[in-house]
Amino acid sequence: MTTMNRKPLVAGNWKMNGNKALVAEFINALNADDANGVDVVVCPPAIYLSALSAGRFAIGAQDVSALDQGAHTGDISVDMLSEVGCKYVIVGHSERREDHGETSDSVAEKAEKVVSAGLTPIVCVGEPLEVREAGDQAVQGFIREQLSALTSKLSASELNQSVIAYEPIWAIGTGKTASPEQAQDVHAFIRGELSETDAEVASGMRILYGGSVKPANAQELFSQPDVDGGLIGGASLKTDDFIAICQSAKI
Ligand code: 13P
Repeated sequence: MTTMNRKPLVAGNWKMNGNKALVAEFINALNADDANGVDVVVCPPAIYLSALSAGRFAIGAQDVSALDQGAHTGDISVDMLSEVGCKYVIVGHSERREDHGETSDSVAEKAEKVVSAGLTPIVCVGEPLEVREAGDQAVQGFIREQLSALTSKLSASELNQSVIAYEPIWAIGTGKTASPEQAQDVHAFIRGELSETDAEVASGMRILYGGSVKPANAQELFSQPDVDGGLIGGASLKTDDFIAICQSAKI
């Protein structure tokens, strides 16, 4: 795992799943678990954030508006997220890029808004299957483009307050996981790209892997030198699986 200055982070992204019963189950199960040494975050649908904030773990949102307030029906501002106790906000998840036309530029704007409110953005990047099949150069080119929007918008100190999640689209919800070597290669590439902005910031930034992480594969993925934890979808809906994955991230 990770160097001394990077504390592992495991975030559960419930996506559009869950209900009040699952909120109660998570509060009970996670409060009873000792996550010492790992930052644990649960990101439910926004409507459950307040209820989940009763837990002794961090909560995060799945999206945020880049705007502050006003006539934007359905949107949620970062101040509202902050007020209900959010510490993290996922931005630029591939499902939001796909379903809502989010671009790398709009994602960078959201990330900056999150940082400016003192919260931590978890900025998602990752390539689709056809890019992966085109080879390593194509993957790197795709991710470089996604990151460059971010590094041109955020200063080094803003990046320092951010987390990156590498989520290859072909591995999300498919049961196909990137091999530990594939994940490590891309994570090292991402850290190298970030170091062009600031080498020290890049070496301290947490880069999470997401895409079909399960209790059975988490430890091997998390043991890669540039993998600092995970962003977990399906397995974050089962308390036992999620806790087992969190335990795998312990140094
Ligand atoms: P799965 O773990 O279900 O593949 O989802 C990953 C993900 O998209 C987390 O944000």
